[in-house]
Amino acid sequence: MGRFGKAQPTRRDFLQAAAAAAAGLGVGGGGLALISSCGDPGTGPEPPQRGSMPQPLSLGIGGAAVAARLEAGAATDSGRWLFNGVMPGPTLHGRRGELARITLQNNLPESTIVHWHGALVPEHADGHPRFAIGPGASYQYEFPIVQRAATLWYHPHPHHRTAGQVHRGLAGFFTIRDDEEDALRLPTGEREILVMLQDRDLGIPFAYAPTTADHESGMLRGTPFGNGVALPGLAVTGASYRIRVLNASHARVYRLGLSNGMPLSVIGNDGGLLPSPVEVEDAWLGVGERLDLVLDFSGAQLGARAMLKSLPFTVPALAKAGSPQGLELDLLEFQRVAGSAPVTALPPILSSVNPLGSPARERTFTLSSEVAGHRINRLSFEMERIDLQVRMGEVEQWEFINNSVLPHPVHLHGTHFQVTGRTGVRGGVFPYEGGWKDTVLVMPFETVRVLVRFDRYQGIFPLHCHNLQHEDMGMMLNVQV
Ligand code: C2O
Ligand code: CU
Ligand code: CU
Repeated sequence: MGRFGKAQPTRRDFLQAAAAAAAGLGVGGGGLALISSCGDPGTGPEPPQRGSMPQPLSLGIGGAAVAARLEAGAATDSGRWLFNGVMPGPTLHGRRGELARITLQNNLPESTIVHWHGALVPEHADGHPRFAIGPGASYQYEFPIVQRAATLWYHPHPHHRTAGQVHRGLAGFFTIRDDEEDALRLPTGEREILVMLQDRDLGIPFAYAPTTADHESGMLRGTPFGNGVALPGLAVTGASYRIRVLNASHARVYRLGLSNGMPLSVIGNDGGLLPSPVEVEDAWLGVGERLDLVLDFSGAQLGARAMLKSLPFTVPALAKAGSPQGLELDLLEFQRVAGSAPVTALPPILSSVNPLGSPARERTFTLSSEVAGHRINRLSFEMERIDLQVRMGEVEQWEFINNSVLPHPVHLHGTHFQVTGRTGVRGGVFPYEGGWKDTVLVMPFETVRVLVRFDRYQGIFPLHCHNLQHEDMGMMLNVQV
């Protein structure tokens, strides 16, 4: 997109906003206003005011002689539960065509099992809650990496315990690469950034003590965390960056946007690359969803700052319920530092996505949140009950009808789907919901339609709400392929 190759209005906006902020005007929200407290704007770049956000460690999972080892255990200090002692867990790196081998060692005081969110894996490697292992036990995963390049993640999936385990710190990225993506020459190395967004309580960020209200709406807290760090910042040079954003929160819906009005250039989502880059002013991100962004900082002056925000929003049902969803949040502050790299324009075509044909069958799923609990089609999860059976290779249309005042991010294991329609408060399908998705946000009283086809593995795969509290409380069904 030309905008990222040459000087264009977006960059001017950045400069203007930065200049205004440097003059102490504090336009555009909290992020830029920080500049005004940094002293004399003439003295050059200031150190970041925010904690700098670390990148997760890496762990290869394919091609090695020994299986990669993931140990879930309690940290001695902070009350955190971590994979391999780090937050986020190590980023698993895999490549299409490789065989992934991972050993999960459970050193937690309770049972767990890990699920590879967005990965196409056989049933035994999927981390369905019925595969949970007790303290001290281990589980061997082995699966071929058969899917295209994508930003996946992993997290525990034991029934009733997912929310607490993720909250205490058990979550990590899982990235897949392939030749198609390599050929695009996207920003990589220090300019490829993973961001795990979570909202936490600043005072007791990792303690898990949900209140009654939390059981209804999920835990919603006021402090943004990135990769386990509160109020994160990121130093960027004059270059373009690939920013891969994951919403690993309990319940928080983000509406991503930049404080300087620069658009977001989205190149991918849950299932990998979009057919073409899309530019949007803002983008919704429900729990479990990912967005792959390319942001160009080459026009920003040294010391300029820009905030990746969650823009405020109201949805009538949420407002009526007094929900803390829709809070304006300063998620991640970019600060331009010395250095630069040549910026090349994004190719107009990123990938090809074949639309699924007309459905052989239609189903509806009604999402409800009542005193009785959070349910799908009035059902609460039963580990061994089969709730629906689908035929391998057959296209179906599924309609998710949210009959409640709460957002429900609906997630499916075992395949990806295509979002084809949405009615309700936000209307239509957003351009960044193209391609292949594994999670889709269904806001209060919205109806979302998707086309889905299981064409890889037989078995039992969950369909569930990814609000972690809702999931734990049984908002999940078993789909048998
Ligand atoms: Cu990310 Cu079944 O979950
Ligand atoms: Cu999943
Ligand atoms: Cu839900």
